[in-house]
Amino acid sequence: MFKMNLTDSAFLCLDIGSSAVHGIAHRVRSGRISKSAMFVSESFDLVDATKSVIDELESQIGRHFDYAYVTGNFGESHFDITTKNTVFQGEHRIGPADIRHQISEIAAPDGFFPIYIIPLRYDCPHMRNMLSPIGHVDSQLVSTYATLFYTHAAMDEIKSVLRRAHIQSNGFYDSQFVLNSVYHTPHETTMFIDFGAMFTTVSIWTDRGPIWQTQVPMGGTNITQSIVDRFDIPFIDADRIKRGVFTMLPKTTDRFTPADVAFDFSRADINDIVIPYMTNIINNIRNAATPIMEKHPINKIIITGGASDADGVVDFVSNTFGIVTESVHIDAPVRALGEHIWNMSADECAKIIARNERMNKRFERILKIFHKKPKKVRKFVPILPSSMCFDMNNSTTYTTFDAAGISMIHVDIMDGLYVNKIAGGIDTLRKIRSRTTAHLHVHLMTESPSAWAADAIAAGADTVIVSTNTSGVKNAIRTIKSSGRRAGIALNPDTSPAILKPIIRDLDEVMVMTVEPGAAGQEFMPACLHKISILAATRKKYGLKFVISVDGGINDKNAQMCWDAGADLLVSGSYLAHSPDFPIAVQSLLKKQ
Ligand code: DX5
Ligand code: ZN
Repeated sequence: MFKMNLTDSAFLCLDIGSSAVHGIAHRVRSGRISKSAMFVSESFDLVDATKSVIDELESQIGRHFDYAYVTGNFGESHFDITTKNTVFQGEHRIGPADIRHQISEIAAPDGFFPIYIIPLRYDCPHMRNMLSPIGHVDSQLVSTYATLFYTHAAMDEIKSVLRRAHIQSNGFYDSQFVLNSVYHTPHETTMFIDFGAMFTTVSIWTDRGPIWQTQVPMGGTNITQSIVDRFDIPFIDADRIKRGVFTMLPKTTDRFTPADVAFDFSRADINDIVIPYMTNIINNIRNAATPIMEKHPINKIIITGGASDADGVVDFVSNTFGIVTESVHIDAPVRALGEHIWNMSADECAKIIARNERMNKRFERILKIFHKKPKKVRKFVPILPSSMCFDMNNSTTYTTFDAAGISMIHVDIMDGLYVNKIAGGIDTLRKIRSRTTAHLHVHLMTESPSAWAADAIAAGADTVIVSTNTSGVKNAIRTIKSSGRRAGIALNPDTSPAILKPIIRDLDEVMVMTVEPGAAGQEFMPACLHKISILAATRKKYGLKFVISVDGGINDKNAQMCWDAGADLLVSGSYLAHSPDFPIAVQSLLKKQ
């Protein structure tokens, strides 16, 4: 069963003739041929020529070959038609085992190995020339097979070279068969002539296979040898001259132009050898084929091999037989082999390509979905709702915040000492933390900020803002920073930014209080705005990085003033909490350009 890796592999086809090796190689990727290369090596040392073709094509294709297939008349071949007769004991349903048994009885001549067996006809006593006897009930089966044999010696020698290139040993094909598989037109009878170096191989094919085959033991090398004998020149020179002047055009009777610069005989002298020899070969073919051609009129002659490209050959063959003749050129067998091998994988390739296309389409659809609905990159909303003014035990609060794009929540903690009121507290913070992944911006309005900061951090604070006029602010900032959280200081309305001087480089944030700490719902103090400007200017002047936030009485009337003064974040409690539509209220606080 033919099975090639069609996802990723490389394969090689060789036409091993008597004086040259033609190679064609294909790189296969995802059910398609992604790269091809051809190479010819002319030599009578076919093992050496085969090696050089493999090396060259391997380097052109860029990888070792996984498979190789061979055609050509490398070494002797033998063609036979065998008739087998099986008599059953009584009526018998004919099955594949009966056919296999008949094939196993086909005897190869001594030293030969059958490599190609074609059933030509099956006859049962009541039905003649059936396509297949399988399933037919009868008492006798007569079958006729065409069989091609190659010598063991030739096959072994070639295999030993091919093995080097990871080539499987069962890929030997008869060149007449591969020519037929590609060039035969259905319902026509075709004659193939392959002008080889040692032999001229001829076969006649119908739709059912070869009905006749012969090898005329004459070829291009004999012509070269005749030139050697006639002019007493080296074989290599005779071969070059033959190739240079070989023509079957009857008018080339130029007796004055030398055939080659090195010798004084003329082109016509060479053609005096070429034309009779070729005429002889073709006449031999015609004589041998006439009886079969009378029974099976031939529609077309296809020529290949060394002489097929010479001037006038097509016309000469056509005129001799009176049949339309076409040259498929010298490399036709190897190209046909490549095509034949590839055709065998056509169905499998179509499946792979269809599957890949389906996957590509699916991939394109997925891409389109991403394209149509780009993942929303949420713009950061620099508004922090103050937890004191919202019901932080209600899940709707969180979904409302989320829907408005809120990503930071301001959590006020009052200890009843620093400010009169007790509000928030570590437990509240912990609960809020458990309900949201938002950044928790904790505002400590407490004495002992360091201790409170440590507790706030443990409860899930992301930013901790401590109040001025408390003892241990520096410590508190250090505690916060060492925990990896953001640290800030809140400036009360009557506190000057100047007091931050010793510590400002350690701060991530300075929060300007625009109300007295201690209660929500107080009136915004515009007098504090200038502190925002001072902080912004200082930051700029010294290249500092702290963020400026504003807390207390922020609404849609004063937010813009804060932005204009240089604020980065605004905290808002009452205004947001009392607005009928939370997202719209958030929008109203945003910076207007
Ligand atoms: C005041 C708090 C503020 C307050 C904000 O002591 O620090 O965070 O909750 O609320 P409004 O916006 O109402 O002043
Ligand atoms: Zn606050």
